[in-house]
Amino acid sequence: MQKYLITSALPYINGIKHLGNLIGSILPADIYARYLRQRGEEVLYICGTDDHGAPAEIAAHEANKPVAEYCAEMYATQKDIYNRFNIAFDYFGKTSTQSNVELTQEIFNHLDKNGFIIERTIEQFYSVADQRFLADRHITGTCPKCGYAKARGDQCDGCGALLDPIELQKPYSSLNPQDKLELRSTKHLFLDLPRLQDKVQEWTTALDNPSKVVAGIIRKWLEEGLEQRCITRDLSWGVPVPKPGYEGKVFYVWFDAPNGYISITKDYLPDSWQEWWRPAEPSEVHYTQFMAKDNVPFHAVMWPAILLGTEQSWKMVDYIKGFNWLNYAGGKFSTSQKRGVFTDVALDLFPADYWRYYLLANVPESSDADFSFADFANVINADLADRLGNFVSRVLTLVHKYFAGKVPSGSIDPDLATKTAQLCESINECHNQLRYREMITEMRALWGLGNEYITTHQPWKLAKTDLAQAGFVLNNCLHLIRTYAIVNWSIMPETAETMYTLVAPTGAPNEVQLAQAADFAALAEGGTVAEKVALFAKIDLDQVQELTERFGGTV
Ligand code: 2FM
Ligand code: ZN
Repeated sequence: MQKYLITSALPYINGIKHLGNLIGSILPADIYARYLRQRGEEVLYICGTDDHGAPAEIAAHEANKPVAEYCAEMYATQKDIYNRFNIAFDYFGKTSTQSNVELTQEIFNHLDKNGFIIERTIEQFYSVADQRFLADRHITGTCPKCGYAKARGDQCDGCGALLDPIELQKPYSSLNPQDKLELRSTKHLFLDLPRLQDKVQEWTTALDNPSKVVAGIIRKWLEEGLEQRCITRDLSWGVPVPKPGYEGKVFYVWFDAPNGYISITKDYLPDSWQEWWRPAEPSEVHYTQFMAKDNVPFHAVMWPAILLGTEQSWKMVDYIKGFNWLNYAGGKFSTSQKRGVFTDVALDLFPADYWRYYLLANVPESSDADFSFADFANVINADLADRLGNFVSRVLTLVHKYFAGKVPSGSIDPDLATKTAQLCESINECHNQLRYREMITEMRALWGLGNEYITTHQPWKLAKTDLAQAGFVLNNCLHLIRTYAIVNWSIMPETAETMYTLVAPTGAPNEVQLAQAADFAALAEGGTVAEKVALFAKIDLDQVQELTERFGGTV
């Protein structure tokens, strides 16, 4: 049987992530993993923190802590947040481990042996006081393109241009702005990507139909032609370069981070990791990656080039799901400017399931999307409180009023059962093909069926003239609640579990496949049904205004 390997981009360790990060990789990966597990598949969902690189050093420096200590603390914080969002990783590891050092060095040695590593001498800023070369990210200065005064050595936050630190005007060290900087020559190692281009080109044709976002990025990179890329940095925090003459240098963070998918699996499954990453036949494992669009070149071109260059048989990705940006009230979410809503704060405001549903309903799938509290409230109120929650509470109230809280006898309404099965099938297909916008449309239609059914048949009126007929209608409605719980589970696990137990005395929603969710004979007649509970609370306009003011957006 084919197994399913899932990874979502490893979040940088340097701070708590915002909602855009969550919907751009981890949340959809979790929903896919849950869906596959519900279908009875063998799944491995791996993630973890991306610990290396200058951003980690800078964040630790700002927090006035040794890098390792900072990373350990931030790892615990991030892990706890994902746990509270009910992200069901099989394992959440990190890249700053011995196993990642060993694996990355081994991969490098193969590349070197195979002739894909080149040595070049470049000009780089040197801090005289610190007696060290400074990495691109450690240099700040004025952008030559737009004049932004705090451009980083690798990229300008003002205009987005990719920069070389020597292009900056008035450059200074971001670690110690008073330091005297000199340009000095130093040796670095480059990955010879032009010589790997053919291998990558051939491999990309084997990818399952990549989504539009991904296909466009791959085409652009390959058409423009790959360039040699520097893979070493002058930092102390990172994977040491195992080559004489490179003492004191480490690998560029993007050279070690993706290897983390493998080394984290190794940390979790020391005896069986090869079943996932070195299967006898590649088709034994289906591998899907989730990430935002800025990560696509590294996963669709660079990492494949690295793995192919080792000339060893690694499991390569089959499908890359790339996402666009979630913007905050028309602008960017920004960690440095503290603009937007961060994952820890989000959980203090509303339950995880509200966020999980809203973010998926507003997923930046084929274009960028906007977050605002006004839209959040509209979606929660209309979809969850009115469409879904209200139906559940109406049905339970009526069953208690007319049938003493017992499942009334009734047979299957064929029309309702057929429509429900069709929508469940369509939702199943959307999960399978990772088409989230369409999936949400189908879920809304599925929840709408219940409201339409109860409004058309009016069991509260029937109960006065034909109790058996009212029972028939409510019996079907109770089955629909069970269906909703099963279908909702991968997206809103907590409320789905509560919803399931309202009508079904045994089992759990994740034990039933979507293909079997529309079973209108599943509930025993006479079984006890719970009193109604408030599954979702509405969000009012005052609250929207207050939150919008507090978080600096526009209504
Ligand atoms: O963009 C990011 O957050 C990166 N830390 C993603 C790394 S993905 C993987 F390759 F490690
Ligand atoms: Zn600029």
